Amino acid sequence: MKDLNNMWKARTWMKTNVPFLYSWHAYVGYELDLFEAFKKPVRAEDVADAYDLEEELLNQWVEVGVALKHLKKDSKNRVKIAKAWKLPGSKKDSPSSGDLLKEMMELHIPSLLHYPELMKEKKRQHFDNEKHGSTVAKTSTLLEMLAFRLINQNVKKHQTASILDIGCGEGGYLLKLAKKHPDLQLTGIEINKEVAESAKKATANYDQVDIVQGDIHEYEPDQAFDYIMVNNLLHYIHPEERKEFFSKLNEITEEKGVITIISPLQKAKYGKQFSSAFNSFFMTFDNLYPIPSEEELKNIAEECGFEQQNPFPIIREGGWFFVKWVKK
Ligand SMILES: C[S@@+](CC[C@H](N)C(=O)[O-])C[C@H]1O[C@@H](n2cnc3c(N)ncnc32)[C@H](O)[C@@H]1O
Repeated sequence: MKDLNNMWKARTWMKTNVPFLYSWHAYVGYELDLFEAFKKPVRAEDVADAYDLEEELLNQWVEVGVALKHLKKDSKNRVKIAKAWKLPGSKKDSPSSGDLLKEMMELHIPSLLHYPELMKEKKRQHFDNEKHGSTVAKTSTLLEMLAFRLINQNVKKHQTASILDIGCGEGGYLLKLAKKHPDLQLTGIEINKEVAESAKKATANYDQVDIVQGDIHEYEPDQAFDYIMVNNLLHYIHPEERKEFFSKLNEITEEKGVITIISPLQKAKYGKQFSSAFNSFFMTFDNLYPIPSEEELKNIAEECGFEQQNPFPIIREGGWFFVKWVKK
């Protein structure tokens, strides 16, 4: 009976692991641009030659792809992508869903696999923002399409003249705002040099945009802003330092000004599976911190002189929310 039970459990775990295979296969395809290589029917050996890849490993990747229906083979043994709409786009079209796969496979999964060792040794690892900053900033831009509409609505509603984007990443929100509102004065601050350079490049044609490379904790602007964006940043700020952080933001927010926060929320109505996995990932590092809950944000808002409106879900299954504060 015990053997039967064990076999049944092992079979269940095996089946549970199948979705991982899809992500792994898509990640390898994205990383080596193989979906581009197999856009038209071609033999795997020719791709191995053209891309200078180990042929047997490539053949095996193709076999997995055919089994998963990411790829198909014709009677001449030529391979072509199947269901292209599902697969990550080419690297040259970044940001694409491949950037999310890259972050999951190169950052999240390896960190989560360190859990036993970290727990036993009672220690955390250190997040290298120089190294991973660019990947992480790219992944966040995937949310932009959904979140921008909300930001833009608020910019219009509050007759905004000036905006500060904290941890502006590659400047995607600022660029979109500049295109829509030529009179807006837009400032972005970004700590990572390489990422700040990308933001400067992306917004170079817009004089209304100023990108500052630096740490928000040391930033002393000589003006206040109508609207401050805190998009996907709170996991960089220790929960005990969040109150001080937002108090400082209060000082540089105009009367009746607005702060909007984009973040996955803990203990939210939607997306608990994803947000708890995200939190587990953050918690493996000594310099990344748990995402906030709605309650935590509400308390900070009150203590820092803002009123919090009901969080609005951006991606329900991801537990991602848009939270708006208005200065009292
Ligand atoms: C996850 S990315 C989000 C980028 C962008 N806000 C978005 O939502 O698409 C967070 C960014 O904040 C930057 N950052 C982290 N700590 C910062 C700090 N203390 N001051 C300025 N930028 C910071 C990181 O380098 C990173 O590019």
